[in-house]
Amino acid sequence: MLISDAFSDLILRPMTQPIGVFDSGYGGLTIFRELTTRLPQYDYIYLGDNARTPYGSRSFEVVYEYTLQAVNKLFSMGCRLVILACNTASAKALRSIQQRDLPQIAPERRVLGVIRPSVELIPEITRSGHVGVLGTSGTVLSESYPLEIAKIAPESQIKVSQEACPMWVPIVENNEIDTPGAEYFVRKNLDNLFAKDPEIDTVILGCTHYPLLLPVIRKFLPAHVALLEQGPVVARKLEDYLARHPEIERACTKKATRQFLTTESVSIFEQLAGFFLGSPLQAVHIHL
Ligand code: DGL
Repeated sequence: MLISDAFSDLILRPMTQPIGVFDSGYGGLTIFRELTTRLPQYDYIYLGDNARTPYGSRSFEVVYEYTLQAVNKLFSMGCRLVILACNTASAKALRSIQQRDLPQIAPERRVLGVIRPSVELIPEITRSGHVGVLGTSGTVLSESYPLEIAKIAPESQIKVSQEACPMWVPIVENNEIDTPGAEYFVRKNLDNLFAKDPEIDTVILGCTHYPLLLPVIRKFLPAHVALLEQGPVVARKLEDYLARHPEIERACTKKATRQFLTTESVSIFEQLAGFFLGSPLQAVHIHL
């Protein structure tokens, strides 16, 4: 036996099996932050496809293709579990990946999204039964939120109104958060949403980029309206999921490492991602 054969397993097998967290850009960091706070013991890899963001106005086919590429990249880096920390990818690609691709490419691995966990809390929060969803054009057009809410609360007849906010992701990606332009678009979209249904008492931030605009959103949101932020919800639901799936939980390694990958320039990513996360980080550039 050649020495290289004896060690090939060690060389090929990744040293860690991190939890993969994927988003089109910076938005998934709002999920990453909550996951690593609530479940700090695990290894994590964050992948932002910043070079091709935004996904929100892209077709089903393109979002699916890009998301599958990202999932495969994270699998190749050892992830047994990948969270699509992106509503657009969860709306347009998750089901196909779970039902069509995973059984063929990696039946022992799991890919989870952010829409279902967010929706599960809605019946507990709303009192008026009138709910608003803010999301990308892709998420809104997919009707994923109204469909999932109807599945979860079929008798309660929750009325869902949606508003696409196509400017919000570019505002975040270009760090225009503290500008009059951000205020203009946030106010405009919130006004549109409440014009559709003034009885809304609960608003879902159905895009992981939107929490980065929270101070502006809070400024223009009526005070009595509850805001559902996905990060804490997804972190809690992941903890439940891991408790219910010990075979996945055991496979996730626990050395508390964090890695960051981006398809854009590393220096641009590091600067803004560090700002959004609240601590400096080092990233690696990858191609998908
Ligand atoms: N963070 C993504 C989401 O949750 C943004 C999508 C985009 O790139 O437009 O939908």
